Amino acid sequence: MQVGIIGLGYVGIPLARRISQSGQGVTGFDIDAERVSGLNGGRSPIRHIADAEIGAMLAHGFEATGDFSRTAECDALIICVPTPLGKTREPDLSYVVSTMESIAPHLRAGQLLSLESTTWPGTTEEVLRPYVEHAGLTPGVDFHLVYSPEREDPGNPDFDTRSIPKVVGGSTAACLDAGVRLYSLFIDRIVQVSSTRTAEMVKLLENIHRSVNIGLVNELKSVTDRMGLDIFEIIDAAKSKPFGFTAYYPGPGIGGHCIPIDPFYLTWKAREFGVHTRFIELAGEVNAAMPRYVVDKLITALNERAKALRGSKILALGIAYKRDVDDTRESPSVFVMELLREWGAEVHYSDPNVPVFPRMREHNFDLASVEVTADSLASYDAVLLLTDHSAFDYGMIAEHASLIVDTRGAFRDMPANSKVVRA
Ligand SMILES: NC(=O)c1ccc[n+]([C@@H]2O[C@H](COP(=O)([O-])OP(=O)(O)OC[C@H]3O[C@@H](n4cnc5c(N)ncnc54)[C@H](O)[C@@H]3O)[C@@H](O)[C@H]2O)c1
Repeated sequence: MQVGIIGLGYVGIPLARRISQSGQGVTGFDIDAERVSGLNGGRSPIRHIADAEIGAMLAHGFEATGDFSRTAECDALIICVPTPLGKTREPDLSYVVSTMESIAPHLRAGQLLSLESTTWPGTTEEVLRPYVEHAGLTPGVDFHLVYSPEREDPGNPDFDTRSIPKVVGGSTAACLDAGVRLYSLFIDRIVQVSSTRTAEMVKLLENIHRSVNIGLVNELKSVTDRMGLDIFEIIDAAKSKPFGFTAYYPGPGIGGHCIPIDPFYLTWKAREFGVHTRFIELAGEVNAAMPRYVVDKLITALNERAKALRGSKILALGIAYKRDVDDTRESPSVFVMELLREWGAEVHYSDPNVPVFPRMREHNFDLASVEVTADSLASYDAVLLLTDHSAFDYGMIAEHASLIVDTRGAFRDMPANSKVVRA
């Protein structure tokens, strides 16, 4: 088998690594020339994948390229390109469409094409299939078309690409069979569903489930806070129930390329069917209000110390969207930093995984990560814990910061201390 992975990012690279480990041939395709040459030079663009692992893939024949005519050399093609939202929060399928434009001239009989990017139910049939048919191919007859959602959880040490069960839906029964045969070569457990639409909807259910439940605990956090109760203590106790409860934790909002975005793919498609997805909108509203909630808590805490936010020096701890990753996409920390800047604060950040503030489409901070030391902590009017990386020295922060606004419950076990404010 020669498998082509199109889109060498957080999803595509771990998948390429797993396929390479299984002994199949892998070619990686990407439009980012720097990324292609970096990978061919043995450099990993992702913090949790070591350069040595890229080296091992290269030793097993992996190659990255920007030459899409080489997709014809592959028996199977797996698309892992971004599926963001546009400015008005409608699905932006332009990356998927441009991928299809690049590969359509090279599609040939006998190939299998799988879409893994998260998207609205119907994308594989309504967007991909016409390209296949225009190439003179018929899914289920001389070509196979499937959808199989990616379930990568960066930074989670308990699961890897191989052990995470893989849902597969086919355009036809023969497509499904071919998809199951392909993924069985490198994934332990395959879960078959009746159609590509079903498989697309499975992924959305998973992410909507998270978004709605995180929205719920974020709302409950503001209630328990008013009541003087600790939401983290309550969740930990509730979690002792051995059935019917799943723990979700509050925070400064939601981030990453999935949870803040994917639910709105369904909202958009549901409108075509005259259905309003109110739970999704409500969770989105609650979660999107969290950065403002955090800033309000900071303003109040500074006010109690006779300080204004304008002119205060604030250190944001953690700009990755979640613990122990280096991904800052849609990170609520960045929204908090934007608000602080708008209010006239002098904002700095520290993140052991993000040494320099990355280039982002909608945010621009010319900053590098500040080293967290006793002296640097003491020089800020407040530190704001936004992402609870395990590399932070929480004891030192508690000792030397003059005011801590904690959005993650990282300081809840520390002795009662008026300088820690929950947000
Ligand atoms: N990151 C995650 O944890 C995660 C988890 C599950 C699902 N997903 C889904 O997987 C998809 C990919 O996400 P990601 O996080 O890997 O994105 P990413 O931004 O890390 O990587 C995407 C890669 O695709 C490349 N690319 C863009 N357009 C291309 C094109 N036309 N042809 C070839 N390459 C192209 C980019 O240069 C980039 O290297 C998205 O639909 C996302 O929702 C992501």
